[in-house]
Amino acid sequence: MKSVACIICLLGSLLHEGFGLKVQYNGDEVLKIVPQNAQHAQYLQDITTELLLDLWKPPTPEAIHAGGEVHLRIPSSHVNQIKDSLLQYNIPHNVLIDNVQQLVDLHKVNEKTTTKVSLETYNYTKYHPMDEIYEWMEQIKQRHGDVVTKHYLGQTYERRSIYYFRIGYPSDKKKKIMFVDCGFHAREWISVAFCQWFVNEIVSTHRSNTVLNNVLKEVDLYIVPIFNVDGYIYTWTTVRELHGIHCISFIY
Ligand SMILES: *[C@@H]1O[C@H](CO)[C@@H](O)[C@H](O)[C@H]1NC(C)=O
Repeated sequence: MKSVACIICLLGSLLHEGFGLKVQYNGDEVLKIVPQNAQHAQYLQDITTELLLDLWKPPTPEAIHAGGEVHLRIPSSHVNQIKDSLLQYNIPHNVLIDNVQQLVDLHKVNEKTTTKVSLETYNYTKYHPMDEIYEWMEQIKQRHGDVVTKHYLGQTYERRSIYYFRIGYPSDKKKKIMFVDCGFHAREWISVAFCQWFVNEIVSTHRSNTVLNNVLKEVDLYIVPIFNVDGYIYTWTTVRELHGIHCISFIY
């Protein structure tokens, strides 16, 4: 993927952010703070823990150390207070994101309108909602019938279909197989995007690339572009959360 796709995990949750509800980040700021000494680092660890702030970097409060960059999401209600105390303690900081909600909205999924899928214009550097992926799979199968077949793998708990591709040239010989499954962990959208990218690379280069052409004579690739369909849809329609970890994802 060319763009730097960042999965930004918002650690720690504020109590009003109920499970599965739409969470708003209006006026929340992400500050970049660089503690200069052990006292600064300690202070940042303390406020992060006590105020249950979402630490974006480093991964845990304990990992905050002098000289290391800290990215912290501050709820709008605490922005002034925390900026004041950073000034008071002389801790260098600046604003990385001045309104988290605005950035989330910019990359938000429009759940209602599904764009018509066309293989010509399918964008492999962005994330796609589930119904577009179903449609994409169907079109890949139809367009590349010489090398791709699509199969039903089974049904999810919420009764959605899981499909996989078999990619390879038909052969009388016993072929080796390679199995790739994506979208096992629902929040890891990048893996679903990878599988689509991977399939596209194969179907668009297998004729011209002699190595790949030979591989597809010997090997069948079994590819499940998205395994955890229910989870994927869940994370597109609610906040991505796991064990108290909130995730918003966007490109930045
Ligand atoms: C594909 O999506 C990315 C991310 O949203 C965007 O930056 C890019 O311009 C899109 N490409 C095309 C050709 O639309």
